[in-house]
Amino acid sequence: MIIKAVKKQVLAQSLECVAVGVFEKTTQLMSSTEAVNTLFGGQISAIQKKKVFKGKSKETFVLSAGEKSPEWGLVFGLGDKDNLDVDTLRHAAAEVIKQAERLRCKKIVMIFDDFSEVAPEMAGQALAEGLEMGAYCFDHYRTQNQEDKHAVQEVVLVFESASFSKFEHGVSRGCVVGNAVNLARDLANMAPNDLTPQIFVDFAKGLFDKKSGVAIEIIDSKKAHALGMNAFLGVAQGSIEPPYMLVLKYLPQKGKKALGLIGKGVTFDTGGISIKPSAKMSEMKGDMSGAAAVLATMSAVAKLKPAQNVVAVMALTENMCSGNAQRPGDVVSAMNGKTIEIINTDAEGRLVLADALCYALTLNVKEMVDIATLTGACSVALGDVAAAILGNDETLINSFLAISEITGEKLWPLPLFDEYKEYMKSEVADLANASENRLGGTCYGAKFLEEFVNDVPWVHLDVASMMHYSTASGYRVKGMSGVGVLNLVAYCCGWK
Ligand code: BES
Ligand code: ZN
Ligand code: ZN
Repeated sequence: MIIKAVKKQVLAQSLECVAVGVFEKTTQLMSSTEAVNTLFGGQISAIQKKKVFKGKSKETFVLSAGEKSPEWGLVFGLGDKDNLDVDTLRHAAAEVIKQAERLRCKKIVMIFDDFSEVAPEMAGQALAEGLEMGAYCFDHYRTQNQEDKHAVQEVVLVFESASFSKFEHGVSRGCVVGNAVNLARDLANMAPNDLTPQIFVDFAKGLFDKKSGVAIEIIDSKKAHALGMNAFLGVAQGSIEPPYMLVLKYLPQKGKKALGLIGKGVTFDTGGISIKPSAKMSEMKGDMSGAAAVLATMSAVAKLKPAQNVVAVMALTENMCSGNAQRPGDVVSAMNGKTIEIINTDAEGRLVLADALCYALTLNVKEMVDIATLTGACSVALGDVAAAILGNDETLINSFLAISEITGEKLWPLPLFDEYKEYMKSEVADLANASENRLGGTCYGAKFLEEFVNDVPWVHLDVASMMHYSTASGYRVKGMSGVGVLNLVAYCCGWK
């Protein structure tokens, strides 16, 4: 799909589909909307008057074609004018593209006035992100009904304003970010037999050529063994698929410290010997969503080229049950020498992340963020509305909270009280990976990870709650969500 920004567009009958926005609680139309209203014989004023269309966020309405109008007219809601935010624009763009797909349109023209409420660059970016994310559909395995595939080929965003070039810049940025989210969704939606750690690594190799500025380092099980990554290897030993620590380095500034991104990449989580129930176990193909978000973020970083150094570590393995699988009661030692008693083999995320975090500490990082589908308890706490954020540094937590306000990828803080240390005491080792006490599971998981970050400012994003959506709305589509990419890209690029 091509997304273009243009400064001027003549309204004519020859256009296939024209889309315009309407604010809630006001009958006054933007000048661009007024022109479309005239073209469609006053239908927009009519639906407003009859309150058939209120202009709420995510609301759309299809106008009927008149004698001199384009074939299709789409009206989308922009919510309250005084509180217009970027997420409303993102959702609006997504709803428009979904509606246009249903109408089988090839080309859409979306028209905007200058939004004094939102900076033009942010507006352009949010619209392009919403279009890309809203158009997403995972059809990799479909062999039937191919005629249902994407109809929309081109979207033209008209922005008649003196700050057009800023808007245009935002649009190109938004296309990169939206595509990165869709890449993370694709990786998580892929069947687990088609997305093993090996295939993930091979895919990453194909993503970054010399020009990308991203260097790849692959730690196989032999090297992991030499580095003492036995917490990671203990999880991997039950699978016949070889595990990898995948390391990416984007270092535009020689000698400067880097931001560290660490992702949980369990390509399938059976639970191991502490096996999971069968219901919904197939969703555990998404247990590599953290690593997918990190890889997708790096793909965007390679295109957007921020000045900031960024390094990434993804712990890729399956968690299987077999004659060679790790047992409850086993003791393993992580790369920093701490010993861990395995109480529950299904608490494998913290084990693979322990070694990934230790390794990241060797990469000259100034701060780190890990992202993981770590605990089911996260969904109990937050539903599918927000992900949990925990960490050892108030400033870093606050900057992520500020980022999430703009990206719409909601984060909510949970505590890292020292009392949670009680939960992870082992009778035989330094730490236990789980306890019989299931309460406060998300806090426990994060407290465990804190043992592996030394004094480096660090935040942990538990995205288990947002991994998968069972209903679609706006740019959220059914299936794997690609959660984390918007926040991580904004973090790496310093967008606030
Ligand atoms: N991958 C799961 C967590 C999860 C659950 C992610 C649902 C996405 C959706 C994780 O490895 C796990 O099984 N955690 C256990 C930890 C427990 C044994 C301490 C859990 O949450 O039950
Ligand atoms: Zn698990
Ligand atoms: Zn898991």
